[in-house]
Amino acid sequence: MNISISQSSLKNQKADILITFCFEDDSLLKAGKKRLAEMFPITAPVINSDDFKGSLRSTMVLYTGAKGAGKIIVAGLGKKESCTIETLRRAASAASKRAASYGVQNIALEGVAAHSISAEDACLALLEGAMLSNYKFDKYITTSKNKKKINSITLFSDSKQIVNAGKTVLTMARSIYDGVTLARNLAQAPNNEIYPETLAKSAIAAAKGTGVKVTILDKKKIQALKMGGLLAVNQGSVRPPVFIVMEYKGGKANDKPFVFVGKGITFDTGGISIKPAAGMSDMKGDMHGAATVIGGIIAIAKAKLPVNVVALVPSTENMPSGSALVPGDIVTFMNGKTAEIDNTDAEGRLILADALTYASKFKPKAVIDFATLTGACVVALGTITSGLMGTNPHLLDQIKKAASRTNEYVCELPLHEEYEDLIRSDFADVKNSGGRWAGAITAGLFLKHFIGDYPWAHMDIAGTGMSSSERDYWPKGGTGIGVRMLVDLVKHFKA
Ligand code: BES
Ligand code: MN
Ligand code: ZN
Repeated sequence: MNISISQSSLKNQKADILITFCFEDDSLLKAGKKRLAEMFPITAPVINSDDFKGSLRSTMVLYTGAKGAGKIIVAGLGKKESCTIETLRRAASAASKRAASYGVQNIALEGVAAHSISAEDACLALLEGAMLSNYKFDKYITTSKNKKKINSITLFSDSKQIVNAGKTVLTMARSIYDGVTLARNLAQAPNNEIYPETLAKSAIAAAKGTGVKVTILDKKKIQALKMGGLLAVNQGSVRPPVFIVMEYKGGKANDKPFVFVGKGITFDTGGISIKPAAGMSDMKGDMHGAATVIGGIIAIAKAKLPVNVVALVPSTENMPSGSALVPGDIVTFMNGKTAEIDNTDAEGRLILADALTYASKFKPKAVIDFATLTGACVVALGTITSGLMGTNPHLLDQIKKAASRTNEYVCELPLHEEYEDLIRSDFADVKNSGGRWAGAITAGLFLKHFIGDYPWAHMDIAGTGMSSSERDYWPKGGTGIGVRMLVDLVKHFKA
């Protein structure tokens, strides 16, 4: 994707399709229409038809007859007073999708100024909405259906202030696009493309030229480290596990790093406690946590943010076989604790346990794990809100603020100690499943047994990672949830 900024008026900007925005308020709508009708008199009948009312997500197409920019899409923003950063993302998304429906490859969006939104935030939001909407995982479709996609997005304005703001956020926009797209591609890829070893290779490939150092711990090293949780989940699988370590040092040498941990189950059959057949293919996305933290660290590195970050990914398939883990088994983890296996389908927490122990080695400023961890979280919050849990109110507060800026909804679930009763075992330190009730919370509490002496937060993205329908700039399939939030979090983090 080519993303650029240009100083130009609507009249002079060139592109296959130009996009401009218009508020819904009477006077603003009138003024906007008047400007367009004066600039391109030929479009007056369409403009004056009153069909376009400026509501959010509505669009109107004008044929200007101008050379080099014959089509303009006017996109509604709704009422000026209720315009937020998210409104701009959604309007830019609606407009760019309409543009894409014409099979064009390059579009140019006119910057808008909205009160209470900084010019930089507005520019980034418009670019995000347009960039992130034009995603399709279609590399396996070989028939020659309309494969043309938008490959160039320009943000233009004749206002110096907006152009300067656009230039300030340009690198950030490109980094976000790369990080989110990487996460979506990894999450959406089927298990015969992305399994532990190819996930590791993808991390190495993505890190090239970014300054991110990647170390892959293979099965031998995982055994030497006594990562019993990761090995237990892996023991039914033909494919070996990996533990991916990515390090970005953009901060001072002695700045404590943020450590991101991502669940990397490349396919979750449930193991011996096997899942029903219907819908099982979604479990190719059971490594969306891994996709999020890999996409996140790559975006942060490409944006050259002045922070230190580590991303950790324990990765394996969860398969049933003659050598698989079975209910009743007792697993010993890297930190020496033990867990009784009640259900082999509660595998994510087993591999995260070792990763949370390993995280201590980096003396983290904060550890945040992302995991498609529980169906219970989907029951509680559906598919648009991630479950947030943790032990450190300050960290949780910073995450909530970042998530609200990027509009990736989170809702905190309580880790009250009374819930511990549900995961008590008679034979081991803890049990890996607490049954149906409070399933997202008991999974969070299980993880809490394995954290070190650092602020910790857990994001259950089971509902938000893989989407069954398209919505604004969110695609069907792997969504890339959390990547923008991580970038925003480390950018704004206050110790
Ligand atoms: N990967 C699943 C959770 C999941 C469910 C992710 C739906 C995305 C959509 C996880 O490994 C799992 O199977 N969890 C079990 C835990 C239970 C056995 C305690 C679940 O939620 O049923
Ligand atoms: Mn499972
Ligand atoms: Zn799983």
